[in-house]
Amino acid sequence: MSALGIEGYREFLARRDGDADLLHRRLASREEFFGGLEADPVRSTRPIDRDVFARNLHRRRPEPGLSPEMLFLLATAKLNQAERFGVGLGETYGRNSGDDTLPERVYMELEEHYHTRLLAYVLDMFGLPFHVVPPPMVMRQFVKINVFLPERIGFGFVGAAEMAGCIMFDELRRVGVELFADEPDVAARIESLYSEILTDEVGHVGYCAARCTSAERTVMRWLYPRFGRLFARQTAEISMLIDPKKLHARLDEPFNVDQLTAGLPNDTFLAAHP
Ligand SMILES: [Fe+2]
Ligand SMILES: [Fe+2]
Repeated sequence: MSALGIEGYREFLARRDGDADLLHRRLASREEFFGGLEADPVRSTRPIDRDVFARNLHRRRPEPGLSPEMLFLLATAKLNQAERFGVGLGETYGRNSGDDTLPERVYMELEEHYHTRLLAYVLDMFGLPFHVVPPPMVMRQFVKINVFLPERIGFGFVGAAEMAGCIMFDELRRVGVELFADEPDVAARIESLYSEILTDEVGHVGYCAARCTSAERTVMRWLYPRFGRLFARQTAEISMLIDPKKLHARLDEPFNVDQLTAGLPNDTFLAAHP
């Protein structure tokens, strides 16, 4: 089942992303998607204070009194920094490079690169820059464990982090669409950018699950809500935007792929259920 699942996932990735070019960090179809975004730029009319944003990006806890819109943009930027940190580290250490690298690993690494760009586009609609800021210390250690764990035991761990990531992206997507409902093109763009990420991340979850034994999948399911709570705690803006009780309740329920993918405009592929 797993082997078939991974084979199917490889085909799905080639279909969804087109040719993969690791040296130039390019996926052919993804470039087309970005071309479409650039040809049709969307700008919010909300006044967002760039200095307040930049200042708070460097703070563990945001200054009091920030608007939910500002909190949403800070959460987007900070989640992006945690991802970027992990992707950059994996790349620097050549985690997915070499003759024996499986094709899906190259696709997955490149997809993660694009997540940085997708989230930067969210900020760009508000005239906000993409700044490189290291994530908080606990998140840095967490990311390092993910990157440096031996592959065999790493899949359950990374998979659980991918599961938790799916919930964060899904929740932020919902919040973003609600917050900017009065600017329909902005809300639609937020939905589209986050949906791209979610489509990829669901695929990553399925891949990790497919590489796990059933005992390892049990561990993956056990870790997932714990990682979810860690992410929310480490990104204070998330806990301020999303009712922690509701978030915890969602994390304590079984991971629901159908619920996550119901509204997605793209095909998704789950090599194995976690
Ligand atoms: Fe990602
Ligand atoms: Fe991922």
